[in-house]
Amino acid sequence: MPSPSSALLEIRGLRVRFGAQDVLRGVDLDVAPGEIVGVIGETGSGKTTLARSVVGLVKPSAGAIRYEATDLVALGDGRRRRAFRRSGAIQLVFQDPLRSLDPGVRISQTVTEGLAVRGRLSARERRMEAERALALVGLGPELLERIPGDISGGQRQRVAVARALVTRPRLILLDEPVSALDASNRGALLRTLGELRDELGAALVIISHDLASMAGVVDRVVVLYEGAVVEHGPIERVFAAPEHEYTRLLLAAAPAAALAAVA
Ligand SMILES: Nc1ncnc2c1ncn2[C@@H]1O[C@H](COP(=O)(O)OP(=O)(O)OP(=O)(O)O)[C@@H](O)[C@H]1O
Ligand SMILES: [Mg+2]
Repeated sequence: MPSPSSALLEIRGLRVRFGAQDVLRGVDLDVAPGEIVGVIGETGSGKTTLARSVVGLVKPSAGAIRYEATDLVALGDGRRRRAFRRSGAIQLVFQDPLRSLDPGVRISQTVTEGLAVRGRLSARERRMEAERALALVGLGPELLERIPGDISGGQRQRVAVARALVTRPRLILLDEPVSALDASNRGALLRTLGELRDELGAALVIISHDLASMAGVVDRVVVLYEGAVVEHGPIERVFAAPEHEYTRLLLAAAPAAALAAVA
């Protein structure tokens, strides 16, 4: 993939091996500041592994991951990794918000957990930050006193995004943020994500198994197939003239309305 020298995130030749299985087989990916990139692929293609590698939860067997001037692979898993994590520059929103939100903990506490990185804040400041983060994802302050079991699935997914926002990240990786939602919630959350880019200037990587749902949302897509990038390019180009057979199959399965959205 051509390398914009201004890349925020730059991944080169990333390989991940679990036991005897090559899960990522030399993945290249660039993300520019403020850009929205879709990573598309079927189940098991390595999407979550890619995201987890970026935040240091998976150790690559080869390849480079750079965030601005920082070599993320070289951070290891000790003190330097923790310091980088505390900076909050990169946030991962996990695939399953029900599992990643603590069922017994109020939304207010969940959303403000990441604020520890900003030093001691008063209760009032924490409350304001929580309200701001919820407002950014289109939720009202009345949710703050509730627990995850007492809000809807769509609201939980938004809370998971809100939690990622309090550290003011410059890069947010979202692992299947809309796949558990019905069509109307899916469209609404994807629009909200687009607005977040505009308001915060954050770059987003949106992982999905559904190429069609990325129409009108992402600037570029990367198609992963069995751990390798088989196609990448601006979403309009990929929709209009897919180069790889696998991408053509994905598009053939897409509803016509989604294809019209990028026409
Ligand atoms: N910790 C692990 N140990 C061993 N194998 C793993 C581990 N994590 C993932 N895998 C394997 O790596 C492959 C890719 O998994 P990954 O979760 O990255 O896929 P995915 O594209 O996110 O799939 P899905 O769309 O179902 O979420 C799968 O075959 C999976 O079983
Ligand atoms: Mg996954």
